[in-house]
Amino acid sequence: MKEVFGKLADGTEIHRWSLENGGTRLKVLSYGGIVQSLEIPDAEGRFANVSLGFGTLEEYVAASPYFGALIGRYGNRISGGRFTLDGTAYQLSVNDGDNSLHGGSEGFDKTVWDVEPFTRGTDLGLILRHTSADGEMGFPGTLTTKVTYTLTDDGDWRIDYEATTDRATVVNLTSHVYWNLAGEGSGSVAAHELEIAASRYTPVDAGLIPTGELTEVAGGPFDFRTPKTVGADLRVAHQQLLYAKGFDHNWVLDKGVTATPRHAATLKDPVSGRTLRIATTEPGLQFYSGNFLDGTLVGSGGAIHRQGDALCLETQHHPDSPNRPDFPSTVLRPGETYRSTTVHSFTSE
Ligand code: BGC
Repeated sequence: MKEVFGKLADGTEIHRWSLENGGTRLKVLSYGGIVQSLEIPDAEGRFANVSLGFGTLEEYVAASPYFGALIGRYGNRISGGRFTLDGTAYQLSVNDGDNSLHGGSEGFDKTVWDVEPFTRGTDLGLILRHTSADGEMGFPGTLTTKVTYTLTDDGDWRIDYEATTDRATVVNLTSHVYWNLAGEGSGSVAAHELEIAASRYTPVDAGLIPTGELTEVAGGPFDFRTPKTVGADLRVAHQQLLYAKGFDHNWVLDKGVTATPRHAATLKDPVSGRTLRIATTEPGLQFYSGNFLDGTLVGSGGAIHRQGDALCLETQHHPDSPNRPDFPSTVLRPGETYRSTTVHSFTSE
């Protein structure tokens, strides 16, 4: 189903698409490819919207911390908003201190996408398309992007990202859903249990730029190899947690880059039993514990969002890869196709 969700200042109509399959209900906006609502049941069949969002377009446009949005061209940070590719230096839009975050000030989260519904056998979904002009936000190359949101008959939400370019560039696309499996607006996610299939993470400096080291998680607050609650080590006086006001780091998934999606993380709300499993082709996962939610925004359910009321699990290449030749490459050249897939599977246990 498609309905008008609102109008941008320039008169552009923004639509909201509602999809349902296999027990998962998804509402998606043509603005930013935003997941405005994602409902899943608990073991008793009680549905809850488990993704933070707003009730109106105006709130998304005014000030959204990327609630539910598609992120591009480059998810997470690029140091100084600068990188050099094939001997040419590029200066990107800088929107996070000295750094470029999530594609710059007018990233894919603020783009109006062309949306087309599809059904394929028992799957259904939306194809979102956008062409970003050469030089947009400082990135080289015309980037032609296609993102497919699929709901399978098992209720999985699968995202397939594809992009091509006409000049060498860098690409790192992701999705910025804020999860609260107890339900949007229900309070802290500190009691959610989290498992991340990673033995190492990329520590950061005070500006949240990776130092370049890959540090073992063993025994410390970053060790989520066996499930532990989000809150268990959140207040450990560790320099990395002080820099980010909590967790806001990239875990180096043990599986590395894979051709098909492989397990990355599990998130469970032990009270409702709602469980999310994430599988991806990407080598990294940003776990952000909602540190900058500060009680200034009212969510779609009418409640104020405060620090730690949701968390993000963003599949990605490692932050600042364009300046780190030793990290897996984010370079895309003419004739190549960027491909990335992430699958979110929901159960109640
Ligand atoms: C980043 C955070 C940032 C947030 C924006 C996350 O992906 O890692 O540092 O504050 O997005 O709300």
